[in-house]
Amino acid sequence: MSDDLLRYRSEFPILERTTYLISNSLGAMPRGVADAMKGYAETWAARGVRAWEERWWMLAAEVGDRIGALMNAPKGAVATHPNVTTCQAVVASCFDFSGRRNTVVYTDMNFPSVMYFWEAQRARGARVRMVRTDDGVTAPTARLLDAIDDETLVVPISHVLFRSAFINDAAAIVEKAHAVGAHVVLDTFQSLGTVPVDVQRLNVDFACGGVLKWLCGGPGTAYLYVRPDLAQTLQPTFTGWFAHENPFGFEVGPTRYTTAAYRFMNGTTPIPALEAARPGLQIVADAGVDRIRAKSIRQTTRLIELADRHGWTVNTPRDPGKRGGTVSIDMPHAEQVCRELLRRDILVDWRPKAGVRMSPHFYTRDEELDTAIAAVEEILSERPVAG
Ligand SMILES: Cc1ncc(COP(=O)(O)O)c(C=O)c1O
Repeated sequence: MSDDLLRYRSEFPILERTTYLISNSLGAMPRGVADAMKGYAETWAARGVRAWEERWWMLAAEVGDRIGALMNAPKGAVATHPNVTTCQAVVASCFDFSGRRNTVVYTDMNFPSVMYFWEAQRARGARVRMVRTDDGVTAPTARLLDAIDDETLVVPISHVLFRSAFINDAAAIVEKAHAVGAHVVLDTFQSLGTVPVDVQRLNVDFACGGVLKWLCGGPGTAYLYVRPDLAQTLQPTFTGWFAHENPFGFEVGPTRYTTAAYRFMNGTTPIPALEAARPGLQIVADAGVDRIRAKSIRQTTRLIELADRHGWTVNTPRDPGKRGGTVSIDMPHAEQVCRELLRRDILVDWRPKAGVRMSPHFYTRDEELDTAIAAVEEILSERPVAG
């Protein structure tokens, strides 16, 4: 069938040499990143410190707005940080855990780094309520909603679960949280770029994620959206001079927060990472998340059919409306199978309680799914594999 999105393949050099099914972990590098890195070095070499004024100071705002446009955020509502864990820390620093409303509610299907961060906030007085999954695939929505009450301060939750690609019911979670006066931090790392995200329609308080997976933006750039009306009332205590109203005044004493997106930033921004993020964001915006989503549903459905045909366990929702861009397939000796697939340049990963995760993206050919599944079949027929 004709697949217009395949015209972007030539932008990604690694697709010429590998079967790239790992965008849930690290999206393929656009060839434009090499030029972006060269441009960065040339700017630094030629312009020196003047680069800050001419380009670098505002780069985080520009990249934040590009990311914001993909999630229907208004301009100036997205700050950037090096990673999602830092984004969680900025959010936590806006709150005080000494009062009665000091409970953090989430599920055990959150990404571990997010979990480790909030668990550690017990030391600052937070109470943590973790709702457990029944099946290792889905998050128990009804129990999660029940756990959110008038003592809940914050609900940090993954939009799409990294292990199973289950899509949490973000709208229901936000509605319940707001009804009792709690805030939601939606981790859109595994959704933005493959599943449509509309922060204004969801009316979510915070959204964060990184660009290195589905946005093909490389490591070092993460984003933090804060609902604009809420933003002006919050004063993050994890702060720094980039968040100051007049950073070059070098004022002594307490900070005066800026009203811009930089309010939720702190120290000097990682310019190379921001430069590297731009080409991927441009391509994803150009390709269009709705078209990417339609293709993703078609290809993940195909992967599930192929896995079923071999009798392997599918640890991913079968309902496409509840499934993100990844299919987790557990077959005998899955970890070794994964290792052998990597050796054959079929790039996937393996995670405990998930199996082999396969993630087609807009640049994936349908035939590549057949190639990957045929390779698994061949590896299993050649058993015992080493390890
Ligand atoms: C849902 C989700 N959140 C967060 C992370 C990573 O967090 P950090 O940017 O802090 O490394 C990942 C994966 O790397 C993830 O899948």
